[in-house]
Amino acid sequence: MDKFIIDGPSPLRGTLPISGSKNAALPLMAAAILGDSPTTISLVPKLKDIYTFNNVIRVTGTTVQFDEEANTLTIDPGNLGFAEAPYDLVRKMRASFYMLGALLGRAGEAKVSLPGGCAWGPRPVDLHLKGMEAMGADIRLEKGYVLGSFPNETVPGGEYTLSPSSVGATVNLILAAVRRTEHFVIRNAAKEPDVVLLCKALSAMGAHISGAGSDTITIQKANRLSGISISNDPDRIETGTFMIAAAMHPESSLTLTGTQPAHLGNFPETLKKTGADVSIADDSITVKAPSEIKPVPVETEIYPGFPTDLQAQWATLMTQATGDSAVTDTIYFDRFSYVPELKRLGARLALEKNTVQIQGGNGLSGTSVMSTDLRASVSLVMAAMIAEGRSEVLRVYHLDRGYEDLEHKLNRVGAAITRADD
Ligand code: EPZ
Repeated sequence: MDKFIIDGPSPLRGTLPISGSKNAALPLMAAAILGDSPTTISLVPKLKDIYTFNNVIRVTGTTVQFDEEANTLTIDPGNLGFAEAPYDLVRKMRASFYMLGALLGRAGEAKVSLPGGCAWGPRPVDLHLKGMEAMGADIRLEKGYVLGSFPNETVPGGEYTLSPSSVGATVNLILAAVRRTEHFVIRNAAKEPDVVLLCKALSAMGAHISGAGSDTITIQKANRLSGISISNDPDRIETGTFMIAAAMHPESSLTLTGTQPAHLGNFPETLKKTGADVSIADDSITVKAPSEIKPVPVETEIYPGFPTDLQAQWATLMTQATGDSAVTDTIYFDRFSYVPELKRLGARLALEKNTVQIQGGNGLSGTSVMSTDLRASVSLVMAAMIAEGRSEVLRVYHLDRGYEDLEHKLNRVGAAITRADD
């Protein structure tokens, strides 16, 4: 297992390119299965989760070629003949559950393993399953697998309200419905850019979808969908992560290129409240750190509110603020496994249910800390980069799931990170 050895403190200065979005690419890859001809997706990041999903898709007989140099995937479902997604692959990555919608949509049947939990607790899929039943699919659970099937080539559809709103359920229901339901309405649908891009791709393939980006998405059956070429979105969470990192050391100034600022919701305004200087020009964003970080409490919300995927990173920034603040996660109540690790670095935090109270102004000093999940690990790297002395961040395989080339990118702008075998 790899670890990072990080010497701090080091300001970050220079320009960083933003990679393609993991969470936008995965639904596009699943959508490619619905096409009667190959689909090409560009700006696909070289991340563990992408390689895992490539293998999940290959199990069905679909061919997947990843041109790593060009960050381009070509997916050809011409030989798809095995409508299954096995436990030993699905358990590695929750988004493999999108295979249920994709295989139901294409083949009219599917056998897909229930996803496991994850580092911060159970993550249910009840909304996915109830929504598919609502549109007319038969859903059965057997030995940890979901057995799904449509009784006919076309089903009436109907409507389903997501409560709470769910990105994954929205994606999975769209994938199942586009080739199967006369008329299906998803209410309280997720509005994330990832969902908007999926609907754009499916419409280009020939699907009939309206309301993408709103909380009501309507789907009418398309008899066939053809493969397309499409570019993935840049990663809005990587963008937000680096914007926060650029605010943590008073001498830092970072310019991020290849971004999609419109996908950041109200995050740039929230970051400006800390005193950071944020300027946006076309697809690049420059963040200059404030001399002093003002405390800014946040609560996570569904898009376009403050993203839960930036919650740990924001709490880490707030440990360096001039006053006290609080971070509340209303999406995942237990996504705080980074808190005890930040305490080991000297931060003063207290967890109360789904809120972490943060005492600002405590300098951090280097030590060994343990990664537990993707966004917690990047927060520990950000903390170690401003801590006095040497830190070790263990189990960085979590990072490799969601941040392409992280240590090389950060070292190019002044960090001192060495990957070593733990
Ligand atoms: C997606 O997960 C993202 N993953 C997550 O990013 C992200 O944190 C999350 O959306 C919220 O924005 C991908 O896109 C691959 P949800 P997803 O269904 O779809 C509850 C990362 O770090 N819920 O929107 O699984 C659920 O418990 C990852 O890149 C149900 O109750 O999230 C949660 O409270 C981590 N029943 C809320 O909905 C269901 O059937 C939102 O979850 C489904 C979800």
